Amino acid sequence: MNRRSHDQVEQSRRPGRRGIVGRVLTLGTLAIIALLALSACTADEVKPYTTISPASPLAADINSLYKLVFWLALIVFIGVQFVIVYSALKFRKPKDEGTRPPQIHGNKRIEILWTIIPAIILLVLLVPTISTLFHQDAEAKSGDLTIDVYGKQWWWEIHYGDAQGQNLGVITANEVHLPVNQKAIIRLHSNNVIHSFWVPQLAGKLDVIPGHVNTMAITPKDTGNFYGECAEFCGTQHAWMRFKVVVQSENDFYTWVNDWRTGNPGTTNQDAPAGVAKAPASFAICLACHRVNGMENSNAAVGISAPATAGPNLTNFGCRDTLAAGMLINNKDNVEAWLRDPESVKAGNWMGTVIKKGTLSEQEVEQLATYLESLKPKGGCLSYSGQPVDQPVSYPAASPAASPVASPAATPGS
Ligand code: CUA
Repeated sequence: MNRRSHDQVEQSRRPGRRGIVGRVLTLGTLAIIALLALSACTADEVKPYTTISPASPLAADINSLYKLVFWLALIVFIGVQFVIVYSALKFRKPKDEGTRPPQIHGNKRIEILWTIIPAIILLVLLVPTISTLFHQDAEAKSGDLTIDVYGKQWWWEIHYGDAQGQNLGVITANEVHLPVNQKAIIRLHSNNVIHSFWVPQLAGKLDVIPGHVNTMAITPKDTGNFYGECAEFCGTQHAWMRFKVVVQSENDFYTWVNDWRTGNPGTTNQDAPAGVAKAPASFAICLACHRVNGMENSNAAVGISAPATAGPNLTNFGCRDTLAAGMLINNKDNVEAWLRDPESVKAGNWMGTVIKKGTLSEQEVEQLATYLESLKPKGGCLSYSGQPVDQPVSYPAASPAASPVASPAATPGS
């Protein structure tokens, strides 16, 4: 090895004082940049999927646990970083290469210490976590109303019942309506795969398991819209299994229930008066899987042991914000695109196995879309008085999609 290359190797082996300080500085700078970037991500943006602005006691309990974990973790993080930096500076290779530092093997005191400290930290986390779990479980025993949620591939069906679980005759898709300050017992069902029901501002994730009913109690403290999604991979369209929780005043909630239960016979019967949209003949195809309250023999099924129909209940369809579990904005263009070829809009959906491109003529598509958009209660869609929470009322975005098949519209928080 010639002298020059030998020097180079020595140089690379020896970071020296400037090397260590330089690296620490670089690391520190990168950490600060990363922190700034992270904080910029959340500044001034809508945060419908945040867990740190809870709007129910259940979510508040979870948030308290989160804060406890966060602060303990921060203390540990800062402690470990301090020791790393201190050790790197203090015990770096000395200039005098002849002397080796004292070699130590094991230190009983330190080992006992770093076994006991984590054990104490875990205990501090365990006790409140377990007590919160038991408390939440006890809360879910009885409530003011019963909401049965069925996880479908890939949408949600919601059945409404009173405190005793007696059916209210209301079935919605991807929209959960709740009265403010009342305790709703949410019962989760699935007859296909495992989903997970998650509304971050109102409750923690809870699995939706075939053959087992999980329950939780949600008592919303604010009116407004809260957003949820499926949080367990469940198939092709797992990402488009979103839903909205609309928290209304008690009065608005029961007005809404009545609107829904009766539907609007004026717009749904075949013999509707002139000037009112009648169900087009092709709607008979839809009735194989769907129901519309108010239309004869088409009310929401009574009894909640199993969902009675394959597709979403279409009552008051014109009042919905979105189609296909939060995928499209509800407007005539998008309904037409869906009816024309459901598979091309949301691949793998069940309706696409029945309705293919060309199954419905262009005229039928147009008539059905017009009819569906006309399905509204007699007094019009209920606009409830409530502060939107962190979020404008419409979802996913206020503007109609430009193309007939809306690209997945900008969703809150994305
Ligand atoms: Cu249902 Cu993911």
